[in-house]
Amino acid sequence: MRQKRPKKGKFSAPEIMWTTPLYEFLRQCNTTRLKKTILDCGAGSHAGIPPPLFLFYQYGYKTYGIEIEKKALAHANRFCKKNHIPLNIIRGDMRRIPFKNKLFSFVYSFNAIVFMTKADIAVVMSEIQRVLKPHGLCFVNFLSVDDPDRGPFRRTSFACRLLKSKRFSLHKDNEADKYFRNFEILRKEKRLIEKLWYGRKIKQVYIDYIAKKK
Ligand SMILES: C[S@@+](CC[C@H](N)C(=O)[O-])C[C@H]1O[C@@H](n2cnc3c(N)ncnc32)[C@H](O)[C@@H]1O
Repeated sequence: MRQKRPKKGKFSAPEIMWTTPLYEFLRQCNTTRLKKTILDCGAGSHAGIPPPLFLFYQYGYKTYGIEIEKKALAHANRFCKKNHIPLNIIRGDMRRIPFKNKLFSFVYSFNAIVFMTKADIAVVMSEIQRVLKPHGLCFVNFLSVDDPDRGPFRRTSFACRLLKSKRFSLHKDNEADKYFRNFEILRKEKRLIEKLWYGRKIKQVYIDYIAKKK
């Protein structure tokens, strides 16, 4: 089915500027000749903030997303409804991606698999590989062991309730390479962010991968 696009200038939602690493992923996706189909694993959003898939939609991609948490899903879909933008985000768990093999040219998970246990992350990585077409690209980011500020999850948090996870999974510099055995790693970037978070100075350290399925 063809997606209905809003007429030019019909919506005034901002670009997804905080997801800067996804701009490099978008650039790399745009350099391939693959069909523009993309899946976001962990595609929910917060109140008033556009889901990152909107970036790809703006560049003509047919978008799909899965999100495990009801509230994050509702926020994302409220954005879609208000702006008449069909991003196609449904409830789903990336540990069992509800799509068939080799369906997508591009798959990403941004700031999302970090909430899961390492055992689950391994499952998710094989699911991402399963739904990607050969030569398709993926973007996945991990939290580094150099990320100092991560305490255990609250018992009421979605990660405890839905993922049975007690804390963020942290990876050493090369530890996550093992998930990409059947990929060619195109880019790997370690990012240190220092920022004020509700008046408190915090550090975050991510390791981002862009990889091509063999
Ligand atoms: C920090 S938010 C990031 C959301 C979005 N990617 C963004 O950057 O704005 C992480 C999201 O991943 C979702 N998530 C975590 N584990 C998931 C899983 N197993 N399946 C689907 N979604 C999941 C969470 O519910 C949450 O909405």
